[in-house]
Amino acid sequence: MEIKKIAVLGAGQMGNGIAHVCAQAGYEVIMRDIEQRFVDKGMETIKKNLERGLKKDRITQDEVDATLARITGELDLKAAVKDVDLVIEAIPEIVKLKLDTWREVDNFAPEHAILASNTSSISITQMAAVTKRPEKFIGMHFFNPVPVMGLVEIIKGQATDDETVKVIEEVSHKVGKKTVLVNEAPGFAVNRLLVPAINEAVFAIQEGVATVEDMDLAIKLGLNWPMGPLTLADFVGLDTLLYISDYFVEEFKDSKYRAPALLRKMVRAGWVGRKAGKGFYDYSGDEPKPMRF
Ligand SMILES: NC(=O)c1ccc[n+]([C@@H]2O[C@H](COP(=O)([O-])OP(=O)(O)OC[C@H]3O[C@@H](n4cnc5c(N)ncnc54)[C@H](O)[C@@H]3O)[C@@H](O)[C@H]2O)c1
Repeated sequence: MEIKKIAVLGAGQMGNGIAHVCAQAGYEVIMRDIEQRFVDKGMETIKKNLERGLKKDRITQDEVDATLARITGELDLKAAVKDVDLVIEAIPEIVKLKLDTWREVDNFAPEHAILASNTSSISITQMAAVTKRPEKFIGMHFFNPVPVMGLVEIIKGQATDDETVKVIEEVSHKVGKKTVLVNEAPGFAVNRLLVPAINEAVFAIQEGVATVEDMDLAIKLGLNWPMGPLTLADFVGLDTLLYISDYFVEEFKDSKYRAPALLRKMVRAGWVGRKAGKGFYDYSGDEPKPMRF
């Protein structure tokens, strides 16, 4: 099966990045969001990122123009998916919203189309089960920022067939990413490791083991991470980390995944990281300033 046309649902952080790399790889892309201003914002971000590539000589003006010409914005779900070969969903991480959307997509998309979710944590099998094609349903987990990060984590649900896996591996390689194939489990491979690691750093801060900046420096230089765990936590969003930790405890029935009290307290205070201007660092000045706990 050859993929030519792709619908991307959601034009947010992940959706516009996915639309960008797919169009740049030569696929025809329809990017769907629920309001024109979100579609416009997604298109603006793609343009900005392509122009950055142009300035750094990573891409030519012709490639920029051709990439943009391959992306069409859309508001109507039926129009977005009616003649595509693949649907990649990047809408908010809310179970009911995803299940309702997949039911609709399943009714409108051609029978041969593959359905892929970019979810960070929600069960692929649960989403597949609301469609009439669970064997064509798969997890396609990109990383943020999509044009920069080199991995797609492919997640096989209970019913996903081998042909679907093969096609999604091919598409991921064509958009310039390496792939790992994992069986469905909470957090898949990357977040299963990352979330407990960040939580452990927060436990250490809570216990007074080190300051925020020393913990970040220790892990950055000692483990050669590109950024420390608390800086990364602020990027991901502390609300998201708490959501995933609670989901892990519920799914694994194992308290080793529990979130530190400090994380919960910060979320309750609204200090959820960069997007709120405050998390483990305060972003109100020119330079992020570490918080004291
Ligand atoms: N942000 C990350 O680092 C990251 C990394 C990997 C995976 N993810 C996953 O990607 C998904 C999207 O996350 P994001 O960070 O891009 O969120 P976001 O809030 O930036 O974007 C979501 C977009 O979806 C739109 N939307 C809402 N309902 C919709 C619908 N029914 N149809 C089409 N669009 C709709 C919203 O208007 C918004 O523009 C989530 O499942 C998230 O868990 C996020």
